[in-house]
Amino acid sequence: MAAGVEKDTRTLRVAVIGVGQRAAIAHHIGATGTPAALVAAVDTTEAGRVRAVAAFGPTVQVLPSVADALAAVRLDAAVVTTPDDTHAAIAMPLLEAGVAVYLEKPMAITVEDCDLLLETAARTGTPLYVGHNMRHMSVVRQMKVLIDAGEIGEVKSIWCRHFVGNGGDYYFKDWHAERAHVHSLLLQKASHDLDVIHWLAGRATRRVTALGALTVYGDHGSRRGADHAADENRLMADGFSYENWPPETQTELNPVIDVEDVSMMLMDLGDGVTASYEQCHFTPDYWRNYTVIGTRGRLENFGDTPGGVIRIWNRRRAWSLEGDLEVPIEGEGEGHEQADALTMGEFLRHVATGAPTTVTAVAARDAVAAGALAALSLRDGGTPRDIPPLPPGVRRP
Ligand SMILES: NC(=O)c1ccc[n+]([C@@H]2O[C@H](COP(=O)([O-])OP(=O)(O)OC[C@H]3O[C@@H](n4cnc5c(N)ncnc54)[C@H](O)[C@@H]3O)[C@@H](O)[C@H]2O)c1
Repeated sequence: MAAGVEKDTRTLRVAVIGVGQRAAIAHHIGATGTPAALVAAVDTTEAGRVRAVAAFGPTVQVLPSVADALAAVRLDAAVVTTPDDTHAAIAMPLLEAGVAVYLEKPMAITVEDCDLLLETAARTGTPLYVGHNMRHMSVVRQMKVLIDAGEIGEVKSIWCRHFVGNGGDYYFKDWHAERAHVHSLLLQKASHDLDVIHWLAGRATRRVTALGALTVYGDHGSRRGADHAADENRLMADGFSYENWPPETQTELNPVIDVEDVSMMLMDLGDGVTASYEQCHFTPDYWRNYTVIGTRGRLENFGDTPGGVIRIWNRRRAWSLEGDLEVPIEGEGEGHEQADALTMGEFLRHVATGAPTTVTAVAARDAVAAGALAALSLRDGGTPRDIPPLPPGVRRP
């Protein structure tokens, strides 16, 4: 359908699949300007279904599986907020049934599953959108505008350092700590930044290499027991405290921890453009710092939320902390809510009108491919990995 052409003005009927921490984005569904309503919520656990009633009220139909939802409710779209390893299996039947999918990032935990999703979306013509909400964060949008305006010339290298200060609380106390559920934190956490790196560079990773290790949380003695009922009631933010410092004072870590807590990857984006991404889960501070170097200058962000700044250096000198141009990061609060509202708005507008989106499913596959193959490289002595081509019949937009 041509961009901007109205397909239908009726209210979109939307389901949320997986009612844990992230399901809160479903609250934006009725408030984006595109007529849409949450009509169903699906969770395989009793605890999730109880959360659904508490969060969304009695008018939303609560069901135990996607199959039940497809059988019982007429749906136009579904917002999938389940653990990463379930994304592909949940999204496939929805796409086959013609239900537009908002899939949380990462798109999947293997390139093969991403390719199945791309092929299914292409064959069925069902919209597939991936929730890379960082493209709607002010700091990222503003860096993109500055780069596109030519402020630093042609982008040649991007370096992103990611200080995941809340890592112990957020990523080592539940399924996020297990390869079986996430493959690697280079997907679960880094897929946001890998996508941003690709967007800022205007091209995707072709070859990758990485090193890393499980250095702090691997030998940590305080583990929860394997209690599934307790797990179902536990959400990522439970037990979060700035008092959990230094990392050895953390308690109740996940029984299984086999993902790395420090990772460093190098990317070849082709034609001489390169990038690097470093992630550490035991820093005291929590933010990401980008340096983008072009042929006529470089930019760097200090802070990644409103209150921070982006600085540009574009004159020769020894060093200067201030740079030649300073741009305040716009917005209020943490900026996450605003980015989530814009992301949901973009998805629903696309479903209703066919309007183009900032992020594409192919870009989401690019991020998974870089992170998944970096994890394989990291676990194989840093051997370089080439990103496989897109599957036949899937075109890069
Ligand atoms: N874009 C972002 O900024 C952002 C932020 C947080 C989380 N996420 C993503 O959201 C997803 C969910 O994360 P979370 O922290 O909410 O996880 P969570 O563990 O809090 O919630 C997941 C829910 O899914 C349910 N579930 C599991 N398998 C299911 C299935 N087959 N069918 C239906 N329900 C099922 C679980 O019972 C649970 O209630 C992840 O992929 C994560 O990467 C994205």
